[in-house]
Amino acid sequence: MPHLHIEEFKTIDFPQSIDGVDFDFLVQNKNNENELLIATKIEEDSFFLLVKQDKNKNLLKSDKLTRPSSIYNVHKALLAYAKLAHLEVHSSNVPHNEKNEHLTQVSALKSIDYFVSDFPTSKEIRIEVGFGSGRHLLHQAVNNPDILFIGLEIHRPSIEQVLKQISIQNLDNLLILDYDARLFMELVPSNSVGKIYVHFPVPWDKKPHRRVIATSFIEEARRVLSVDGKLELRTDSENYYAYSYETFIAFTKTTLHINKNKEIAISSKYEDRWKKMEKNIYDVTMINEEESKELFIEGNFNFTQANLSRNAILELHNKTQKLDGGFIHFERIYASETRIMLRISMGSYDRPEHLYVIIEAKAVSYFPNIPLKSKSNIISHNYLNGVLNG
Ligand SMILES: C[S@@+](CC[C@H](N)C(=O)[O-])C[C@H]1O[C@@H](n2cnc3c(N)ncnc32)[C@H](O)[C@@H]1O
Repeated sequence: MPHLHIEEFKTIDFPQSIDGVDFDFLVQNKNNENELLIATKIEEDSFFLLVKQDKNKNLLKSDKLTRPSSIYNVHKALLAYAKLAHLEVHSSNVPHNEKNEHLTQVSALKSIDYFVSDFPTSKEIRIEVGFGSGRHLLHQAVNNPDILFIGLEIHRPSIEQVLKQISIQNLDNLLILDYDARLFMELVPSNSVGKIYVHFPVPWDKKPHRRVIATSFIEEARRVLSVDGKLELRTDSENYYAYSYETFIAFTKTTLHINKNKEIAISSKYEDRWKKMEKNIYDVTMINEEESKELFIEGNFNFTQANLSRNAILELHNKTQKLDGGFIHFERIYASETRIMLRISMGSYDRPEHLYVIIEAKAVSYFPNIPLKSKSNIISHNYLNGVLNG
């Protein structure tokens, strides 16, 4: 994570801009006054810089939740703030003159907004969930130039490695997204995907709710797959295989194929490791047999106005509300003189969305983006709107 280790944090007059970076406002965590967030904007990217103050160490870094897809913009914002506030920097892992050619030239890295506003549907789509080193994904893209591949990954260094390869190999049929695959599936148009690859997912034996393969994921996979489209799970974990088999078999209008130690055209980094250890490798392939209805979710993410008092909003901290088909948890509350900001998790329990809500005078808005349009997010939003409306 890029960060600056600073002598002490100094504030500036907000709003202010320097070197193409806008700093709009600053809020403080009401339950941990050593944590501050600075609203930052570079062109289309809106995100927060995070200040963590400690007896031993003061850090200025990027906020995980709103981290923009371009790491270059995070670097630029950190250096710009340090310059504007005259911060004394002890150490840093932020390069000064960096402009990673591969990252800036490649248009393969997309934000979730790209897919929300206009999901590409002119070609057959194949999705790889958690592509890691990207060996399999790149191999598929090179060998199937007429198919559009979408690679989903949440591990930044893996994404950067694959973007570099896309640039070197000049691939134009591969899009990369830094996003939780379980949420992404909810906005994919019905019947539009030929294949979904889930190769060597993290087994999460101790936290099964974090697994990619789950009833809700298979439901969405079934909906987005075309008739005869396939979901391919490949795993070295016997436990994960057995659990997945049980989960898949509950679905009708699908065919399941099971294979053990099947060779495929390209072996991933993980696969090589398991093969060396002589572990068995299990494949579960689900073939969809039924056309699904078009994706239509009623509702929107508009807010009326916040009539709830400032004190009552501050008291929401740590509260959780279970709803019929959703939930909301008020994780953290930040404030300045004129604003209150909530960090919430919402939506469905097994694939929650984490985001910020800003309340300024009586106006309420999500930051930086509205939630994904899923049924559970709409249910949670309607509840939140009611609470803030008072
Ligand atoms: C064990 S690695 C396997 C990587 C690759 N498929 C391979 O076979 O070498 C699992 C990968 O899935 C990614 N991952 C885990 N949960 C994810 C999620 N919900 N959405 C997208 N990627 C995820 C992890 O970051 C990790 O890189």
